[in-house]
Amino acid sequence: MEIFSLKNQWINLLCIIIFTLLSISSKPATLALRSNENDMLALLSLKDQLVGDSHGVLTSWNASFHCCQWQGVQCGRRHQRVVSLNMSGLSLAGFISPVIGNLTFLREVDFSHNKLQGSIPREVGHLKRLVYLSLKFNHLNGEIPEELSNCSNLQEIAFTANNITGEIPVSLGDMKNLINLHLAYNLLIGGIPASLGNISTLKVLSLEQNKLKGTIPSSLGKLSNLEHMYIGTNKLSRSVPPVHNFSSLLVLDAAVNQLSGNFPPEIGCTFPNLEAIFIGLNQLTGEIPRSISNISSLELFDIALNGFTGSVPKNMGNLRNLLVLTISGNYLGSGKPGDLSFLSSLSNCSRLQSLGINYNHLYGVIPDSIANFSIWLEELFMGDNQIIGRIPQGIGNLINLDLMEMKGTFIAGEIPISIGNLQNLEGLYLGFNHLSGKIPSSIGNLSRLSDLNLSNNKFAGAIPLSLKQCTNLQKLDLSTNNLNGSIPYQLFGAFERLIYLNLSYNSFTGSLPSDMRNMKNLVEFYVHNNNFHGEIPMTLGESLELTTLFMRKNSFHVPSLNLLPPLRSLENLDLSNNNLSGTIPPELQKLPFLVRLNLSFNQLEGEVPKKGVFKNATGFSFFGNKNLCGGIPKIQLPKCFSEKPKEKGKVLSTKTIIAIIISILLGSILVVLLVYHSLRHKARRGTFMPSSLFDNSCLRLSYKELLECTHGFASSNLIGTGSFGSVYKGVLYQHEKPLAVKVLNLRNHGAARSFIAECKALRKIRHRNLLKIITSCSSIDYQGNEFKALVFEFMPNGSLESRLHEQNDQSRYLNFAQRLDIAIDMANAIDYL
Ligand SMILES: *[C@@H]1O[C@H](CO)[C@@H](O)[C@H](O)[C@H]1NC(C)=O
Ligand SMILES: *[C@@H]1O[C@H](CO)[C@@H](O)[C@H](O)[C@H]1NC(C)=O
Ligand SMILES: *[C@@H]1O[C@H](CO)[C@@H](O)[C@H](O)[C@H]1NC(C)=O
Ligand SMILES: *[C@@H]1O[C@H](CO)[C@@H](O)[C@H](O)[C@H]1NC(C)=O
Ligand SMILES: *[C@@H]1O[C@H](CO)[C@@H](O)[C@H](O)[C@H]1NC(C)=O
Ligand SMILES: *[C@@H]1O[C@H](CO)[C@@H](O)[C@H](O)[C@H]1NC(C)=O
Ligand SMILES: *[C@@H]1O[C@H](CO)[C@@H](O)[C@H](O)[C@H]1NC(C)=O
Ligand SMILES: *[C@@H]1O[C@H](CO)[C@@H](O)[C@H](O)[C@H]1NC(C)=O
Ligand SMILES: *[C@@H]1O[C@H](CO)[C@@H](O)[C@H](O)[C@H]1NC(C)=O
Ligand SMILES: *[C@@H]1O[C@H](CO)[C@@H](O)[C@H](O)[C@H]1NC(C)=O
Ligand SMILES: *[C@@H]1O[C@H](CO)[C@@H](O)[C@H](O)[C@H]1NC(C)=O
Ligand SMILES: *[C@@H]1O[C@H](CO)[C@@H](O)[C@H](O)[C@H]1NC(C)=O
Repeated sequence: MEIFSLKNQWINLLCIIIFTLLSISSKPATLALRSNENDMLALLSLKDQLVGDSHGVLTSWNASFHCCQWQGVQCGRRHQRVVSLNMSGLSLAGFISPVIGNLTFLREVDFSHNKLQGSIPREVGHLKRLVYLSLKFNHLNGEIPEELSNCSNLQEIAFTANNITGEIPVSLGDMKNLINLHLAYNLLIGGIPASLGNISTLKVLSLEQNKLKGTIPSSLGKLSNLEHMYIGTNKLSRSVPPVHNFSSLLVLDAAVNQLSGNFPPEIGCTFPNLEAIFIGLNQLTGEIPRSISNISSLELFDIALNGFTGSVPKNMGNLRNLLVLTISGNYLGSGKPGDLSFLSSLSNCSRLQSLGINYNHLYGVIPDSIANFSIWLEELFMGDNQIIGRIPQGIGNLINLDLMEMKGTFIAGEIPISIGNLQNLEGLYLGFNHLSGKIPSSIGNLSRLSDLNLSNNKFAGAIPLSLKQCTNLQKLDLSTNNLNGSIPYQLFGAFERLIYLNLSYNSFTGSLPSDMRNMKNLVEFYVHNNNFHGEIPMTLGESLELTTLFMRKNSFHVPSLNLLPPLRSLENLDLSNNNLSGTIPPELQKLPFLVRLNLSFNQLEGEVPKKGVFKNATGFSFFGNKNLCGGIPKIQLPKCFSEKPKEKGKVLSTKTIIAIIISILLGSILVVLLVYHSLRHKARRGTFMPSSLFDNSCLRLSYKELLECTHGFASSNLIGTGSFGSVYKGVLYQHEKPLAVKVLNLRNHGAARSFIAECKALRKIRHRNLLKIITSCSSIDYQGNEFKALVFEFMPNGSLESRLHEQNDQSRYLNFAQRLDIAIDMANAIDYL
């Protein structure tokens, strides 16, 4: 019994053990299946928040296939859980759903280079296995979730180039495995948390282009594995931290901040492996640490635009690997000989590509050893120093130079002919020196040259014809030299790309080359203060981009002002001090962008226009012309011949409106009056419609004929005056019927417009109560003034006004019925009009 029960118990125990074993082995299987379904559901719900599936990746996320087969999704082989999500560069917009936190087996998430919006869901903190998280280049905003630090396996966080705001969470310092932290190009504020110094694994710390303030925490010095530190373009202030053991640091970029104080003098010992230092645009002071020349690995050294003083270490040449050396924009140099002696040592930097020492106080002669500089040198900035002496011939050895800048120094002598060797040169800037002699014709060998600036020197002689080989020139500044001779006529034809051309303040003679048609891209053209004469070439009109044209102080003359209308882009035109004569072309007021115009000291005469640039008295000047008149009242020129006095401004315009209304009324009354009489006249003869004397619409009358037929517009022929003109009676010798000639007063504002309008209107008029126009005359009178007149049939019985008021002459008296008829007819006519 006992044995039996014991046996039973044993069996029971066995059962339990077997069952337990069974359940242990079966449980993971069923759970895995269910979890995998959950992953699928989570992915589908993630998909719901994403839009813009331009690559069709999300369409593969459908229930007809297992989620491990979807594009961009990877599952673990054993457990079939989603371990990687790669959605990079799919132009996806929308949001990252918090459901991402359900995919707890994720090791890699890459949503980079999309257009995702919204914030980073805090649920990413659930992803304990996450190693790599990249959301860079999206439009994410909001803050970095604190919970991110729960992803303790994360090795790389890449949030670069979003709009992430808020502070860097202090908790990030807890991430024991983080190697790369990329938060650059966001809107982060606050300081750099000191806790980041706890991440001993950190190799790359990238925080540049944010709005970070405060100091660089000294705790960062504990980061003995840090290789790249990018903290540039923030608002970090105060001193560079006391030097730490950045023994593995390769790149330090702290440029464009507000760092001040001295650079740590022992930098050479504490940063022994540095390859690049960028600390330009800060407020650092003191000397360049001597120890710098011990960092033999240094390739890039840029301390531009700080307050460094003292001399440049003489042994910079020890930095054999140097590619870029930029010390521009400091107060380096003593202003005494020896300042430039460090240059000699640089001939040992056989990889040097860019050297910038400009904007300092460096004094001295450029050593001849510049000839032994690296053949790879591409950029040389030396200007705005106190350099004396000459440009060494040996400069011609630097055959890879594409930019040479030595402006604003005391360099004298000639440009070495060897400059022609620099076949790669694109920019040559030698302005504001004491250079003299001729411009070497070897300059024509520089076929890639696009920017040549020799302004403010003492160059003499003519422009070498070889310059025409520099067909890539975009900017040419030869201003303020002693250059003379005429411009070779082939020259401008070669400069198709030229945007800027300055020949001003020289002694050039002759006329401008007549063919400028190739300079289609020219925007600014200065030839002022020379001895040019002749015409302004019409072909300049092909330069459709031209905004600025300065030709003052030459001897240019007209009739070339007519070239100006095609220059539609012109903003600034200076033609002062020339021999221009004739009148100001009215076309000038049509140039829509012209805001400055100088026509002073010429021999211009006649009327100053009133529109466009002439509207603004400060925008143009006209002094020293003898016979100008008119213009806007503010410029107080004498009235032009026979111009009527006028009121100013708004008063004038309201008066004009009133005048127009009155004249229209008077005109209509006159017309109706004439019609009325004609009707009466013809009614008596049995005709009803007014028939024109001259149905020949081609009848043309000249000023002379009208003058004669009205006896020279004699007052005896005057039958009425309106505000727009006077009406004369006239008889043409070949026609018996008299005419009414309405001479428009063109001095009156709007009369010319009224003339055209009246012609147009009257030509179409067919109404029994309105007089038909016979013809018009638009001509010039014997004084050279414009003359416009309208010719109507003459109605003999005087004006309606006189008839209405001639109370004493009984025969002509109008009774009530007649007056009512007139009123009705007038109303009809006005209604028709
Ligand atoms: C995500 O997980 C939460 C809690 O674990 C659950 O309530 C929710 O239904 C899950 N959502 C999806 C879409 O799987
Ligand atoms: C579903 O996805 C698979 C690939 O995962 C794809 O081949 C198939 O065309 C998709 N079906 C639909 C209806 O989009
Ligand atoms: C950040 O926001 C500004 C202003 O809304 C926007 O112009 C800019 O394109 C955004 N940048 C990114 C990377 O989304
Ligand atoms: C995740 O992080 C938050 C905030 O840092 C913390 O309160 C929470 O306890 C963490 N959760 C886990 C599971 O570690
Ligand atoms: C992390 O850094 C902070 C600030 O530097 C410090 O107070 C804290 O003790 C550090 N924690 C660890 C675990 O090193
Ligand atoms: C820097 O590190 C070296 C060894 O890596 C160590 O001997 C030295 O004490 C450290 N210096 C400082 C200031 O931490
Ligand atoms: C540079 O290094 C050498 C030895 O490597 C050392 O003797 C010298 O003092 C160092 N110079 C500076 C300025 O640190
Ligand atoms: C270049 O380096 C060599 C070898 O170290 C040295 O002898 C020479 O003086 C250096 N030249 C200059 C110009 O510093
Ligand atoms: C350039 O270097 C060579 C050899 O190193 C030397 O002979 C020559 O004098 C140097 N030239 C100048 C101008 O320093
Ligand atoms: C410049 O070009 C001319 C031919 O145009 C050639 O004879 C001369 O050797 C070149 N000069 C230089 C310095 O390259
Ligand atoms: C030419 O150089 C001078 C001196 O640096 C400068 O003032 C001028 O603006 C430059 N011309 C052009 C077109 O940049
Ligand atoms: C007149 O011209 C001057 C100079 O071009 C300009 O500053 C001013 O704004 C102009 N005034 C008006 C009313 O256009």
